[in-house]
Amino acid sequence: MEKKSRSKFSSKLGFVLAAAGSAVGLGNIWRFPYLAAKYGGGIFLLVYLILAFTFGYTMIMTESTLGRMTEKSPVGAYKHFGASKFLKAGGWLNAIIPLLIVPYYSVIGGWVMKYLFTYLSGNGSSASKADAFAKFTTSAQEQVFWFVLFTLITMLIIFGGVRNGIEAVSKIMMPILVFLAIVIVFYSVTRPGAIKGVKYFLIPNFSQFSYKTVVAALGQMFYSLSIAMGILYTFGSYMKKDIDIEKTTKQVEIFDTAIAVLAGLMVIPAVFAFDGGKNLNAGPGLMFVALPKVFNSMGFGGFIGVVFFLLVLLAAVTSSVALAESVVSTFEDELHFTRKRAATVTATIMLILGTLSALGFNVLSSVKIFNMDILSFFDFLTNSVMMPIAAIATCVLVLKVVKIKTIEDEIKTTSKFRRKIVYNFVIKYVAIIFLLVILVTSVLGAF
Ligand code: PFF
Repeated sequence: MEKKSRSKFSSKLGFVLAAAGSAVGLGNIWRFPYLAAKYGGGIFLLVYLILAFTFGYTMIMTESTLGRMTEKSPVGAYKHFGASKFLKAGGWLNAIIPLLIVPYYSVIGGWVMKYLFTYLSGNGSSASKADAFAKFTTSAQEQVFWFVLFTLITMLIIFGGVRNGIEAVSKIMMPILVFLAIVIVFYSVTRPGAIKGVKYFLIPNFSQFSYKTVVAALGQMFYSLSIAMGILYTFGSYMKKDIDIEKTTKQVEIFDTAIAVLAGLMVIPAVFAFDGGKNLNAGPGLMFVALPKVFNSMGFGGFIGVVFFLLVLLAAVTSSVALAESVVSTFEDELHFTRKRAATVTATIMLILGTLSALGFNVLSSVKIFNMDILSFFDFLTNSVMMPIAAIATCVLVLKVVKIKTIEDEIKTTSKFRRKIVYNFVIKYVAIIFLLVILVTSVLGAF
């Protein structure tokens, strides 16, 4: 059964497309700009770039190689190498993280749908009003309605098994998204006052550096590159033996980072041009507050709003399908659920946890966990706590069980392995200690 669903998926997907399609999503467009705005702009960008091209690179290479060698998703891969019981839990941790991400991911997906609907119905300008976003989030009905709708779409695709169609959509969608992003960036950075935002985002100001910058950038790196959530093991397992792992990693890295930087250049200059930089700390709502103002002031803004939110919606759906699919297939493969049962369990958990996140802005707004609303708490729990642990487990698996040499040999079957020195250095000496420090700091910081 496992083989059947695996090969069906693999025959239709190129690794790069699949990995890039799952990598580019709300993380790049919604999450990256608000974190960059909040954590010092240029200094956040610099830390992010360094992490992505050293650490991120190492983790993508490792996870996809382990997947390709074993032809299994994380739980199976850990078993394959005969990891200890304790370490096997690491495989499960990797596999279970998407189950905690996809519910709140779908809440944000719901926000995108709502904005698309607003622009489609010709009311785009109302979205640019100062309190529009706040009003929207404080309405429990609206939050739950759009979240449930988004979840239904995701689950219909999973139940209907049309995920291959979805990949085809993303193939067409990506180039249009890049093109539109460039148009919006051009407009955004040329607004009066926007240059301050461009400088804020691109020029590092070292006085803004703190451990929080690193914690946030690391979490974002995991999230955006789909690392430490089992996804890349699974994609690796679909990967043909003759694909150059190093090259595909590089492509995914560069493409994903480029989209994030474009999103930063769309949003952050607008925060300066339209709000004098007051909203830098707005958090998860930043994109929804800043971009409607840009669209409102530009020619054909209503139309641009429709196309933009449609593309973001498509990117969000492809990502949420990949997240949910990975949970469903873990349940199928490891717990021997039927596909229907696996999908039903996943959908139920999504609905429960996502509703809690959606209500955290209104009915449950008095509920604060470590001073965070419910959505931010799930975001923190997965990105800053669970993913560092999952990544540590992967590194320990490589160092203690699989051995670096084995990974190296596998990579070298198809690649020159140009960044081998970086790889070895990061995985041998840096990764585990760095992750432990980050983990402890972020957990202590939450209290
Ligand atoms: N990397 C995606 C993003 O940046 O939005 C999130 C994601 C999507 C992670 C799909 C994992 C995945 F399977």
